[in-house]
Amino acid sequence: MVVESVLCMNPGDGETSYAKNSFLQKTVLSKARPFLEDTIKDMFSTALPTGFKTELGCSSEPNTLLFVSEIMDVIYELCQQLTCKLPEFQVFLNDLTGNDFTTVIKSLPFFYEKFGRGKGDLYGQHCFISAVPGSLYQRLFPSKSLQFFHSSYSLHWSKVPEGISNNKGNIYMAKASSPNVFKAYLEQFQKDFSLFLRLRSEEIIQGGRVVVTFIGRRIEDPRNKDCCLYLELLAKSLLDLAAKGLIVEADIDTFNLPCYNPYEGEVREIIEMKGSFDIDKLETFAINWDAHDDISDKNFVFDKDQCGRNVANIVRAVAEPMLVSHFGDEIMDELFKRYA
Ligand SMILES: C[S@@+](CC[C@H](N)C(=O)[O-])C[C@H]1O[C@@H](n2cnc3c(N)ncnc32)[C@H](O)[C@@H]1O
Repeated sequence: MVVESVLCMNPGDGETSYAKNSFLQKTVLSKARPFLEDTIKDMFSTALPTGFKTELGCSSEPNTLLFVSEIMDVIYELCQQLTCKLPEFQVFLNDLTGNDFTTVIKSLPFFYEKFGRGKGDLYGQHCFISAVPGSLYQRLFPSKSLQFFHSSYSLHWSKVPEGISNNKGNIYMAKASSPNVFKAYLEQFQKDFSLFLRLRSEEIIQGGRVVVTFIGRRIEDPRNKDCCLYLELLAKSLLDLAAKGLIVEADIDTFNLPCYNPYEGEVREIIEMKGSFDIDKLETFAINWDAHDDISDKNFVFDKDQCGRNVANIVRAVAEPMLVSHFGDEIMDELFKRYA
């Protein structure tokens, strides 16, 4: 699988699109917002930002522009408090070349208009948004040219590790996978995350900041269901289709997902060992796969079937292009019905 050409979210705004099924990622953004705010306020205390930020792995609407507006709001409020002039910002939205950039770009006039309302011409005149297609595992910007990088829910994607040909009946690390599969996935993450840090350290100016959020696991042992169960179930659903003769079982054995859910200690170790950046804060938080399943809401009524469908829609919006490239598109409805 050539990851760069098939790793994209479901485009457009149809029922199975990422735009309609990214509530989980939106919840992640809002959980991380206090940290983001603190980081920006801290940066702002020493110098006004210009050439400001990059959203790495931006995907299409709606989360990426929501995020840009959140940052702009924080800075706008700060400028009002400090009675200083709002700086000009350049915002670069990055994703792989196969990403649906068209949807984001088409929504820019609406974005400038909506978020600028009530704030003079804030967004129209001070914020300049452009797209930068390319992999976050390559150089994307000139040396020492940016002050801030942000990436939400993207950095757990990397490459399929080499040498995991004996991962029979699985599509990722699974309880039944052999030790060499776990080792290969960890080593791939170490390699890719180190590369990401090195590249960004070349592009960022002295004193700049990086805020990244991605899926990890709470338990160190990756055999724990906390890490891999949701993808083991997807593999099981594929095996069900193979048993019905709808796909070939050998095709499942040759399909492995290009992602990794690291443990906190693994992330810390790489950052400290590579030394490109100091850690200000490293935190973990838990979110339900069905982010609509909000137990803090006393009116919430749990519906097992609906919950299954919600999670299936989230996973489908993200994984479908990769699955289609390997298994074809005829089985997708049936696959995700079973998965739900
Ligand atoms: C789940 S989406 C998250 C999008 C957005 N940040 C959000 O929070 O809604 C993950 C995004 O990461 C992008 N991605 C994965 N690997 C990438 C890479 N190597 N370089 C750039 N983007 C990548 C995918 O194309 C996808 O759009």
